[in-house]
Order: sequence, then C-alpha cells, then structure tokens
Amino acid sequence: MQGIFISMEGPDGSGKSTQIALLNDYFQSCGYETVITREPGGTVISEKIREVILNKDYTEMGYMTEALLYASARAQLVTEVIAPALAAGKAVISDRFIDSSAVYQGMGRGLGIDNIYKINRFATQGIMPDLTIHLDLPAKVGLDRAKDRAALDRMELESVTFHERVAQGYRDLAKLDPKRIHTIDATKSIEEIHEAILEHIKVLLDNRSA
Ligand code: ADP
Ligand code: TYD
Repeated sequence: MQGIFISMEGPDGSGKSTQIALLNDYFQSCGYETVITREPGGTVISEKIREVILNKDYTEMGYMTEALLYASARAQLVTEVIAPALAAGKAVISDRFIDSSAVYQGMGRGLGIDNIYKINRFATQGIMPDLTIHLDLPAKVGLDRAKDRAALDRMELESVTFHERVAQGYRDLAKLDPKRIHTIDATKSIEEIHEAILEHIKVLLDNRSA
C-alpha cells in the first residue's frame, strides 16, 4: 500500500519541528515506519543547496534564483527520499514542502503562486502531501521564538513586513485548499496543538482503512 505523506507548514518558529517529533511518535505507535525530512535539505545535495540559499552573506540573490534553488533541493529530496519511502508504504513527515515556496516565494516575494506551482510540479513529479498542517501564529511571535533558538539566517533576517505577508499568505492558501490544508492556532500549548493535529491525522487514517 502507498505510504502517507504529511507536510508541516507555518512561519519561522511556529513550532513545526516540535510537533513533528510528537507526530512521529504517534505514527510509530500505530505501527508505521516513518521518515522525517526537512526543507530545504534532507539529502546531501539538498543540504548543500540549503547552505547557499540561507547564507546571510548572499544578499544579492535574485527571487527567481531563490525559487529555483528551493525547487532544486525539493526535486532531489523527492527523488532520493520521499518517492521511495512512499512506494515502500512508509509515513513521511516533511518539515515544509511545496506550500512554503507558494507562500514565501509566490506571495512573500511576489512571484505569484501559479508560477511557483508550475516549476514545483515539475520538480516534485506531481507528488503532493495527503494532508498539510498549517501552524498559524503572528509573524512576530514566531520570529522571537526563532531568535531565541539560533543565529538568524538570510530568510529570517527579512523584514517583519515580509514575514507578516508570509503569515497572511498561509491563511489565504489554506482557504484555497481547505480539504488538504488544516490550520491550527499555534499560540496554544505544545500539547493542545498536538491533540488538534491528531484529530486531523485520525480522520485521514480512518478514511484510508475504510
Ligand atoms: P519551527 O520548526 O517551526 O521553526 P520549533 O519547533 O523549532 O519551530 O520551535 C521554535 C521555538 O519555540 C523552540 O524553542 C520551541 O521549543 C518553542 N515552541 C514550540 N512550540 C511552542 C509552543 N506551542 N509554545 C511556546 N513555545 C513553543
Ligand atoms: P526552516 O529551516 O524550516 O526554518 P524555520 O525552522 O525557522 O521555520 O526553513 C528555512 C527557511 O526557508 C525559512 O525561513 C522558510 C524558507 N523557505 C522558503 O522561503 N521557501 C521554501 O520553499 C522553503 C522550503 C523554505
């Protein structure tokens, strides 16, 4: 049986990694073999591309270059990790996927979501998440959390206005695809968010076994 593909989305510092660790435990307790990936990254080549994209010294990087580099890192991740894991029936949980490009490059940078989906459909061979969790919180709250965690990268150093466009972009995108993208209030406690995520996951698992 084809595996399950879940993506976790939201502004920087919205709690994606925290929730992925909890969700991973849940899938394993249900007997799934899991694969956790992060974007950009998750393969040797994609991690190299990540170093280029997020290097804060590369202030001259053009928006098209940025969009295509994210798509390249994604193409390698899909070919090398995600597609084989799904074919083997595993549960894949990805820290960001195609919607990050739609929101950050399409809306944040203003390249347009249609253009972004076009290049990314090519990069991903049409593979899309079965379910996407959108952790919604004010941009400033996420950035403050990210600031406490590590040195800020090239994207995190963008203006608060950019990150507010991203946070709003996610809300708009979720409305465009409400069947797949589920929005959760990420200002709540870690445990409350986990429970809210599980409600959606359980519906997906029930539908698959029906
Ligand atoms: P992301 O992967 O989206 O960047 P993280 O999971 O790394 O986010 O979380 C960013 C920071 O916020 C971490 O220090 C984490 O411990 C903290 N954090 C995560 N979830 C919550 C929450 N619900 N409330 C408060 N702090 C949180
Ligand atoms: P990530 O390491 O997940 O950041 P965080 O843990 O702070 O959320 O992602 C790196 C940055 O790259 C983040 O600022 C979002 C951005 N990004 C895009 O702009 N487009 C994309 O397609 C992806 C995958 C990430």
